Amino acid sequence: MLNSLPPYDAEQSLTLNQRLRRQGHPPDTVSAALTQSRLRAAAEAKFGDFASRMLFTEDGLQQATRLSVAARHAERFRDAGVAVVADLGCGLGGDALAAAALGMQVIAVEADETTAAAATVNLSPFPEARVRHTTAEEFIETQPTEEAQRTGLWLDPARRDPHGARTAEGSALRLTDPESFSPPLSLAVDLAAAGRAVGVKLGPGIAHGLVPEGCEAEWVSVDGDVVEVALWFGSLARPGVRRAATVLRRDAPPVQLTDEDDFGAEPAHRPTGVEGLTGIIWEPDGAVIRAGLVAECAELCGGRILDEHIAYFCAPEGAPVPEEAVGLARGYRILERLPFSVKRLKRWAAEHGVSRLEIKKRGVDVAPEQLRTQILGSARRRPAEGVSRTLILTRLGEERVAVVAEPLNG
Ligand SMILES: C[S@@+](CC[C@H](N)C(=O)[O-])C[C@H]1O[C@@H](n2cnc3c(N)ncnc32)[C@H](O)[C@@H]1O
Repeated sequence: MLNSLPPYDAEQSLTLNQRLRRQGHPPDTVSAALTQSRLRAAAEAKFGDFASRMLFTEDGLQQATRLSVAARHAERFRDAGVAVVADLGCGLGGDALAAAALGMQVIAVEADETTAAAATVNLSPFPEARVRHTTAEEFIETQPTEEAQRTGLWLDPARRDPHGARTAEGSALRLTDPESFSPPLSLAVDLAAAGRAVGVKLGPGIAHGLVPEGCEAEWVSVDGDVVEVALWFGSLARPGVRRAATVLRRDAPPVQLTDEDDFGAEPAHRPTGVEGLTGIIWEPDGAVIRAGLVAECAELCGGRILDEHIAYFCAPEGAPVPEEAVGLARGYRILERLPFSVKRLKRWAAEHGVSRLEIKKRGVDVAPEQLRTQILGSARRRPAEGVSRTLILTRLGEERVAVVAEPLNG
């Protein structure tokens, strides 16, 4: 029935439900099929065309790795020469699918029965993939030694308590302590210490102090959203890389920044403060910021950080940006520096005929929408024609500054 349904349309859902029931289908079955139809439509963003052949649960879809990122995880395992990947807590099988698609043998382990059943359907096009309904811990204890030696381990622990409190939208609340994840981070660390090739996906907001020693930590963004940090241990880690930022965009090739130093290392140059606020101001991608690589990014682009707590840096206009840095940061040509005063900004906007204002901010507590109305007046009264500008608000040391800028093309 599910495969015979038309493309999902929320407005038609009730009519369709009634029609299917009139045809004699049991109400529970109809409602389950329509839920799957809705989830398949929602899953297209992560799984593309694959979604139309998959089964989902609401929580499973929220937690699933999108295929473009899962493909990169799989490439790590393949490039390290891993023959078998055990996905310990495979969920609906996002990561397992990608590994199977690259031709590796996959053992997808899942503790939740319904989720394991869905993963079984989702992985059915790949005969080299098996789903085991058991816990990661039990699987590790019972895997034959010879097979274990050839098996790389992937963990994407559940970071929400499925039985705990929920948000107003019905999502389970996120946990923050890696030991309360399921499986806990320590399982991965222990397996890595025993010499296994281990990869772990965690939320990108993890405090640097909680990142275990001896691994490569890679923050990944997709179209500007930082989606994860992956920790790579053993043969999966790149030699000499402690921190990495990977920037993925639909319309551009992937770009990476890596560094060998541990978190909190002194930047190579001192922050310039307000004096350095000239030329081009660069806003690094979120993955660069989360990986703590702003100063390294600045150096690569011939620039300098302004303040050690603020993720902007400046470089002289015309300073060559090396090819490997293109895409790591977005640049804005500084046109003018103004005092941070609503009255002054209002006057500036009127003098320059500004009718559209993009507001960016770091380290200052302002509500951009409200400030825009204060500066330009209410949206209804702004002229359709007029100058478009970017206003960058930040704090350098004790000083709050406003910078008028225009985005660089490309
Ligand atoms: C974040 S999801 C994995 C998502 C998956 N990477 C994907 O792309 O679809 C984590 C999964 O681990 C399962 N899980 C939690 N604790 C587990 C354990 N101890 N052993 C096996 N599976 C576990 C949960 O039921 C959940 O489905």
